[in-house]
Amino acid sequence: MSSAPSSRPTALVTGATAGLGAAYARSLAGRGFDLVVVARDVARLETTAATLRSEFGVEVEVLAADLSDRAALERVAERVASTRAPVDVLVNNAGFGLRQRFYDGVPADHERMFDVLCRAVMVLSRAATGAMVPRGRGWVLNVGSVAGLVPGGGHYSAAKAYVIVLTETLAGELRGTGVKATVVEPGYVRTEFHARSGMTSGGSSSLSSRIWLDIDDVVDASLDDLFAGRPVSVPTKRWKAVSTVLDVLPRGLVSRVWNGMPSGARRRHPTSGQ
Ligand SMILES: NC(=O)c1ccc[n+]([C@@H]2O[C@H](COP(=O)([O-])OP(=O)(O)OC[C@H]3O[C@@H](n4cnc5c(N)ncnc54)[C@H](OP(=O)(O)O)[C@@H]3O)[C@@H](O)[C@H]2O)c1
Repeated sequence: MSSAPSSRPTALVTGATAGLGAAYARSLAGRGFDLVVVARDVARLETTAATLRSEFGVEVEVLAADLSDRAALERVAERVASTRAPVDVLVNNAGFGLRQRFYDGVPADHERMFDVLCRAVMVLSRAATGAMVPRGRGWVLNVGSVAGLVPGGGHYSAAKAYVIVLTETLAGELRGTGVKATVVEPGYVRTEFHARSGMTSGGSSSLSSRIWLDIDDVVDASLDDLFAGRPVSVPTKRWKAVSTVLDVLPRGLVSRVWNGMPSGARRRHPTSGQ
């Protein structure tokens, strides 16, 4: 970590009980951070906190919150903006996919997706940077996705595109303040995400094994990019190449190719599954 704080700093991670969020919490604890862990399942939060305390000797605060609930989100925003117990690193990680089309999907599910993937990221990024800038230091890592570069991965892609543009905009605004913002754009990672969304997580073909990322590679590369002040992090060379191609191809072409894929192929490796 190139410019990490020297005394015991605090990191708040949303969705810290499973998948990428649990790995971010472990990695940050290993780097000497106290933690605030956020998710809905209280029992799982308590278990996560106890494990981190005993393995890493750090302090861990449990903050149970459903980020789609405005009052609960406000409590998390207040914790993020606290001047009494400052949060030095915010990781906006909580998220989920939906195996539904937008036009005939369940409206309440799509609103919940918007609230967790977009609104919570916006509210917490604002609360964090508003408190960090006067202190002249702080780091915000927003978890986007390569899916955010694809016009065709449903509402999930649209939500992740929002996270990407918001974070890049924020990183520009923060230049010279001592505060950094980074968006990480992972490809496929095996977590609980796909099962929770009713998707398969790929077979064991060689293509399949090449596209899946190691969770610790994603976490370590993105934290290194965050502390180095890089606004965009795309872990692994292979996925960097994919993201570069998606960036330069005409959007209409990407959309046509994606939407022309057989639905079975999309279900096996749904873009909305990233
Ligand atoms: N896995 C992939 O292939 C992949 C690829 C690219 C990007 N991502 C992104 O990575 C992030 C983490 O996903 P993951 O793969 O690690 O998923 P995961 O294993 O399913 O973990 C999701 C975490 O988010 C929490 N969460 C879900 N809904 C929440 C809500 N309403 N309020 C508060 N916490 C909530 C869950 O805990 P509770 O259920 O207890 O709330 C859990 O801790 C997401 O933003 C996802 O979009 C994933």
